[in-house]
Amino acid sequence: MGSDEGLSRRDLLSGSVYAALGTGAPNWALPAAAAEAETSKPASAHDIVLRVNGVDRPLKVESRMTLAEALRGPLGLTGTKIACNRGACSACTVWLDGTPVCSCMTFAVEVGPREVTTIEGLAKDDVLHPVQQAFIEHDAMQCGFCTGMALSVAALIARNPDPTAEDVERAISGHVCRCGSYPHVVAATLAAAKTRKG
Ligand code: FES
Ligand code: FES
Repeated sequence: MGSDEGLSRRDLLSGSVYAALGTGAPNWALPAAAAEAETSKPASAHDIVLRVNGVDRPLKVESRMTLAEALRGPLGLTGTKIACNRGACSACTVWLDGTPVCSCMTFAVEVGPREVTTIEGLAKDDVLHPVQQAFIEHDAMQCGFCTGMALSVAALIARNPDPTAEDVERAISGHVCRCGSYPHVVAATLAAAKTRKG
């Protein structure tokens, strides 16, 4: 609508037209400052306890905070990476009670009493998990961004001590690795399974 017709686009957006008509402005026509005030209201906060890598970690989170954000932010566990932040790449994989999940698609408030394991929790008493050791030996990660793959294959060999290459490929099928280290990951996982079996 052009200003020569008496109403400018700015009038419409600022809601002055509705004031002139004596009607309330619909939500979409709230003045920018009011709209901003609406969205900047503090979101509801919750006191929760996350059990992460065997330790209870109390923290305050907003309803909208994802597990990935809670881990990387207040808990300082930056080994979990956020890449797509929409469940498409699996970079942010952690375990919930031993099952790999995308932490960017899990709200911190919905974790409850389930045990969270991150890449920092795979090693025990300063001894690397066989998967971590094999990833180093097989050069399975170049940039170290998709650490979630280590969690997925560690979960695989925990439930299947003798996986085939196809089993490994299936376990990492949801992971997008920009460095293309898939063949190294498969070789490393098969080696780690052997080591674990002794
Ligand atoms: S960052 Fe979570 S799936 Fe990509
Ligand atoms: S090792 Fe770089 S993205 Fe996977």
